[in-house]
Amino acid sequence: MFIDTHCHLEDENFSSDRLEVLARAKAAGVEAIINFGSTLESSIAVADLAKNFSELYAGVGIHPEEIDDFDEKTGAKLAELAADKKVVAIGEIGLDYHWEKDSARRLIQQKIFIEQLDLARQLNLPVCIHDREAHGDTLKILQTEGKNLRGVLHCYSGSLETAREIWKLGWFIGVDGPLTFKNSAKLPEVVKAAPRDMILIETDAPYLAPVPFRGKRNEPAFVVEVVKKLAEIRGETLEEVAAYTAANAKNLYTL
Ligand code: NI
Repeated sequence: MFIDTHCHLEDENFSSDRLEVLARAKAAGVEAIINFGSTLESSIAVADLAKNFSELYAGVGIHPEEIDDFDEKTGAKLAELAADKKVVAIGEIGLDYHWEKDSARRLIQQKIFIEQLDLARQLNLPVCIHDREAHGDTLKILQTEGKNLRGVLHCYSGSLETAREIWKLGWFIGVDGPLTFKNSAKLPEVVKAAPRDMILIETDAPYLAPVPFRGKRNEPAFVVEVVKKLAEIRGETLEEVAAYTAANAKNLYTL
């Protein structure tokens, strides 16, 4: 059994066949799926989905590319959504310097990231972090503002050196489709060195479909490809990887 710990099933890409996608996930052995919001609207949508399907859970938060969606009322609205038992995390939140080159707006990303870390601490919820080309600042913020918080760097793309710092803080790395790509860069080295209790598996569907589905719409059933690749690189069986990553997900998100 697998747990897809990062997904966006509320996305309009799934509006015509969401039930079939869920059925295929179940048939592939995916026992639980956590969907993450990026805006207030998508946070409401993922929380609603979680209410309607027993295998679905939700994380709510404002993504760094969506900071214009964040105002002084947003924190309270996210807290209201998080009162539901099926909302198990704050996310995805963080920093995206790939799409944001303006230094003033990067500072706003940092401020909103820190505010949402505070919110997670108040609500006693784990955090799911989006860090794209902002590894240094993300790590610095976690080291200074991450006290009494747990979470994951989803779709991890940093170096082994940074990963070791992340593990030192007791945080997980999330591994998805890019591990199966030919140009997976530093990722194989990182996952090979990762302690068993520091890895989560995810799809980030509808994005980042793993090989052999690369370029197509991704879906939770494809998480199996990520597990296969992890097993191959780490010299473990598929069953072992499935078992400890599922245990990690249950532990972090109290599923
Ligand atoms: Ni995502």
